[in-house]
Amino acid sequence: METLLLTTEDADIRRGAQIIKNGGLVAFPTETVYGLGADAFDPKAAKRSYAAKGRPSDNPLIVHIAKTEELYSLATEVPAEALKLAEAFWPGPLTMVLPKRPEVPKETTGGLDTVAVRMPRSAATLKLIEYSGTALSGPSANVSGRPSPTSWLHVKNDLDGRIDAIICGDPSEVGIESTVLDLTEPEKPVILRPGYVTPEMISAVCGREVSYDPALFAKPSEDPSYRPKAPGQKYKHYAPKAEMLLFEGPEKEVLAEIKRRLKTAQEEGIKTGVIAHPDPRTFFAQLREFDAQGCGLILAAAPDDSEEFTGSLKFSLMNRMLKAAGYNIIKVGGRQNMKIAIASDHGGFVLKQPLVEHLKEKGYEVADLGIYEQEPVDYPIYGKKCAEYVVSGQADKGILCCGTGIGIGIAANKIHGIRCALLVTPFMAEMAAKHNHANMVSLGGRIVTPEQACELVDIWLETEEEHGRHDRRVALLDEM
Ligand code: TXA
Ligand code: MG
Repeated sequence: METLLLTTEDADIRRGAQIIKNGGLVAFPTETVYGLGADAFDPKAAKRSYAAKGRPSDNPLIVHIAKTEELYSLATEVPAEALKLAEAFWPGPLTMVLPKRPEVPKETTGGLDTVAVRMPRSAATLKLIEYSGTALSGPSANVSGRPSPTSWLHVKNDLDGRIDAIICGDPSEVGIESTVLDLTEPEKPVILRPGYVTPEMISAVCGREVSYDPALFAKPSEDPSYRPKAPGQKYKHYAPKAEMLLFEGPEKEVLAEIKRRLKTAQEEGIKTGVIAHPDPRTFFAQLREFDAQGCGLILAAAPDDSEEFTGSLKFSLMNRMLKAAGYNIIKVGGRQNMKIAIASDHGGFVLKQPLVEHLKEKGYEVADLGIYEQEPVDYPIYGKKCAEYVVSGQADKGILCCGTGIGIGIAANKIHGIRCALLVTPFMAEMAAKHNHANMVSLGGRIVTPEQACELVDIWLETEEEHGRHDRRVALLDEM
């Protein structure tokens, strides 16, 4: 099929409307992202939309209307609150989920008894709806799983030859999809998908609390039987072709980490895209641009406090970024810029190598003081060497490994200023930081596995020190 490119002129919109009336698919501009329009009351048109997008048919479509009254042709009940919200936010990026009328086919609602409705802001699209004489189902006009389209060119790149027409309007100014608000439980309005309209904005109109669906705070389950309230939330979304890593932490340190990784990637000849200051208006377009350039890796900073968006809009952007990155999130900052010295004897050698790799992967700088092959050596020498490295300030913290962790730890504790703790259990690792402010730890190659050693060291490094009485006791130790 040839995909017609239509303008926003009246005659072209009428052509588009005729295509919809004949059961066809016409992509339309909106302020959020471009939508793939079809007659919402025609089950065959819904099926065609799923096929064109390659979208699973249990993922319901949002229905677009041009006048608030049209709500009554879609929903069995329209609560007063829905009308208030429509008055406040429509036309605009808010979708409301209500109980559906039987005339709305299950093909449109992905088998659900509810229907999601919104009124988009684009004048051309409002006309298209009006001229079509029906409501338009409109999933984002991308191939399923790809970044949402924020310009007609994005739609053409994904769906050329698979749909009847595209109305070539302006780029989408919001850039991320609408907020989906579930109003089907009168007691508890819940946001199923975060967007530009925030819970605070909705609460201000309703005069009561509006919460996020708790599912939004968790990584989606990989259990195939899992079915969240907004079925769309379970699928991998917005994914660029490149591997994407998302960095979270203080801005300066995040940017430094991105720079470091960019250098490594370039040395390895991997074409890399960087998003240093993410913006909801351009995020999807950037992903597409990196794909077009053939990037193999995308390094992105999470939205941070120095940016102009409110907390909730940041949360909405982060929701899209997490999905695009397949939840590949790397926390940087603070403790991780630390330098760690490590040493072992032959009995601890099995732990030292995996620990060195693990710490480097986490972004720590590591000074490996030996041994480098498993020849028999005297543990006090390595315990002392590492402890002196730490007290002289050449490293921030130290890790020691021998057969049990005992002997090499005793050696370190002979050095003034060292507080070396033996780690066997996670609780000991936590307390070593919290109460003893241990600046070194020791581990036994015959006591714990390399995986356990890495876990114990992570706990020790990531636990905050507690102060108050512990400061006094640590000071007493340091006087000895
Ligand atoms: O901004 C937008 O909403 C764009 C533009 C084109 O309007 N549309 C859009 O549609 O993002 P789509 O199909 O890509 O996403 C629809 C989302 C999905 O997460 C889906 O699960 C949820 O809305 N949804 C639709 N109907 C629902 C219903 N009855 N109950 C719960 N969630 C629903
Ligand atoms: Mg979508």
